[in-house]
Amino acid sequence: MPITPTKKIWMNGTLVDWADAKIHIGSHAVHYGTAVFEGARCYDTPRGSACFRLDAHMTRLFDSAKIYRMQPTYAYVELHNAVLETIRANQYKACYIRPLVYRGYHTLGVNPLPVPVDAAIMLWEWGAYLGQDALTSGVDVCVSSWSRAAGNTFPTLAKTSANYANSTLIKMEAVLEGYSEGIALDTAGYLSEGSGQNLFLVRHHTIYTPPLSASVLPGITRDSVITLARDLGFTVREEMLPRELLYIADEAFFVGTAVEVTPIRSVDKIQIGNGRRGPITEAIQQAFFDVINGRIEDKHGWLEFVYEGEPRQPVAAATNAGRTS
Ligand SMILES: Cc1ncc(COP(=O)(O)O)c(C=O)c1O
Repeated sequence: MPITPTKKIWMNGTLVDWADAKIHIGSHAVHYGTAVFEGARCYDTPRGSACFRLDAHMTRLFDSAKIYRMQPTYAYVELHNAVLETIRANQYKACYIRPLVYRGYHTLGVNPLPVPVDAAIMLWEWGAYLGQDALTSGVDVCVSSWSRAAGNTFPTLAKTSANYANSTLIKMEAVLEGYSEGIALDTAGYLSEGSGQNLFLVRHHTIYTPPLSASVLPGITRDSVITLARDLGFTVREEMLPRELLYIADEAFFVGTAVEVTPIRSVDKIQIGNGRRGPITEAIQQAFFDVINGRIEDKHGWLEFVYEGEPRQPVAAATNAGRTS
């Protein structure tokens, strides 16, 4: 589905019309992938529109920029506020948020240092990334023939456009083979992550996820899910995981801003558990959707309300009713 245009895109401090948000073909980022970006979401909660962990996303944006020696021209607070301003300018209740810091137009030598660092914030409407049905029924995935980048090659703690060249290879292969997603291993053969989501599995009531040293993006949803799972009393272990543990897992699921919490029902045509969303996955999904939809008290301070005067009182009691998707 093509993107539906919004009214305004923020570019270097100015809100410009969607149709005018253009860069020169000679921009460094177009040629060499010299851009870092974020993907966050704003949710339409009963208490008003709220961004989920915008602080954490903007911190990761600045971390990514630092790794690439790409000092943004705008301070953290300015870019953070610009996100809220752009949502208000487009009068969105809910949206996907894409801040981008990129090397602009100056020279096309590989050395990016002389090239100006530009910034933009684009928003669009984005529903369930792998389809609404995926959230309840789960997805069929494969282990990719492509590995995630080896340590000390493309830094995976940075969310850089360049890393998504690898993601597109993983995704294309999976889709062309008839799967929804691909799971990449790291170059040592351990489980890493999906093309655009972190991976969890459950075995004997313990939850496992690959550590940051397994070439994964330090996902904000990953961190939130670890916190919520521990709140629920589960043991969560971050450790190097052999590929075959996935096949014998009781449950497996993806997490990420786009996929939120999506169950995996098969890997390489091997059924995971009973081939349906498992009970631990469902409990975590429920906890996650309760927070992002403002149905329970935001005890970790993860929601940031967008519009002036929106009520912020905590919701009295958790409810299991409503959206699990
Ligand atoms: C490669 C990759 N891993 C993991 C994630 C999940 O990160 P987050 O939860 O911060 O969206 C993403 C999403 O952007 C991603 O692209």
